[in-house]
Amino acid sequence: MFDIQEIRSQFSILDREVNGKPLVYLDNAATSQKPNSVLEVCHAYYTELNANVHRGIHTLSQLATEEMELSRRKIQKFINAEHDFEVIFTKGTTEGLNLIAYILTQKLQKDDEIIISYLEHHSNIVPWQMLCERTGAKLRVIPIDENGILQLDYLDQFLSEKTKIVSVNQVSNALGIVNPIEEIIAKTRKNSDAYIVIDGAQSAPHFNIDVQKLDCDFFVFSGHKMYAPMGTGILYGKREILEALPPFHGGGEMIATCSFEGTTYAGLPFKYEAGTPNVGGNIALGAAVDFMEKVGRENIQNHENALLEYAQRHLLELEGIKIYGEKAKRTGVVSFNLEGVGISSDVGMILDKMGIAVRTGHHCTQPIMNFFNIAGTVRASFAVYNTFEEIDILVEGVKKAQRMLS
Ligand code: ALA
Repeated sequence: MFDIQEIRSQFSILDREVNGKPLVYLDNAATSQKPNSVLEVCHAYYTELNANVHRGIHTLSQLATEEMELSRRKIQKFINAEHDFEVIFTKGTTEGLNLIAYILTQKLQKDDEIIISYLEHHSNIVPWQMLCERTGAKLRVIPIDENGILQLDYLDQFLSEKTKIVSVNQVSNALGIVNPIEEIIAKTRKNSDAYIVIDGAQSAPHFNIDVQKLDCDFFVFSGHKMYAPMGTGILYGKREILEALPPFHGGGEMIATCSFEGTTYAGLPFKYEAGTPNVGGNIALGAAVDFMEKVGRENIQNHENALLEYAQRHLLELEGIKIYGEKAKRTGVVSFNLEGVGISSDVGMILDKMGIAVRTGHHCTQPIMNFFNIAGTVRASFAVYNTFEEIDILVEGVKKAQRMLS
């Protein structure tokens, strides 16, 4: 049974008012709210369990270690990784992508190629540009059509023995477009030996993820967009690949032996987890997975798809609205502008006065904005606790903004 009021009752923050109006939180692609079960786990960690992990013989240290490792196994199951040690705790998708770009440095040389797409977040562009600067490799970018849909013919043209990395997102943060990553992975495997990296920041909160079925080499996502605290994230990498590549950060926990003459590295996952991790956050990420499994990931997806369809249908009833990626397969996001209203942030400010939280601007995707020749969009993004009534309030708010600004 999918009981939206029962789900909402688990998120205390949804009861608050903003600017004298009930909060309508539609900025979930930036970060989701956290259910009380996750907040309670954070609180319990610091009131009952706080200790450093993997280091102490004392009871608290052992308990904290057990809880964090239990969380790792929950996440292993959540993405269907073959081994728990293929699940590396990070502070988010950006760190995960930078980590991969760094450890692959030695695998690239001048004139090798890295393929990304036009739909990427800056986090899946800049680390690869930095890698190109270090190695002399070149970036190739799969273009989009006017609907925001990737033109995969170009991928066919680009793939060659020079291709060393293909890195794409599963869902675009700016437009919510769902990319055909199964097809991208199949084409890449067939035509190159490239490492395949999937940015799952905007898909993990919505979809079932099966990294073994996908057959990607790396899959990265953030905890804070899927009901967990900020500063949490996951890097999944295939065992044989992670074992063969060098570490990222050097420091505590990632060594087997350390002397002034030289250091040997720990096995997985510790080789990639230098320094004290975000223990409480990592345990709470496991609680967020529990929350999602309890609601049911299919229920989450069905509800969010229904919200998106409803929002799109009602927004399109307004004159002079343009929804970007309107005809593309999407999830969780409606990104739009109003004719005659040049600045998306003006709309965002009016909505904010009505208690409605949306994101405006370029959404860290300036190439997409340049493609559509705009400075930004208004983006409403959904989570499992959003309601159809909230969409009605959004549509009324957009009408009001249109009246005031045009
Ligand atoms: N990447 C996040 C967003 O799309 C912050 O809003």
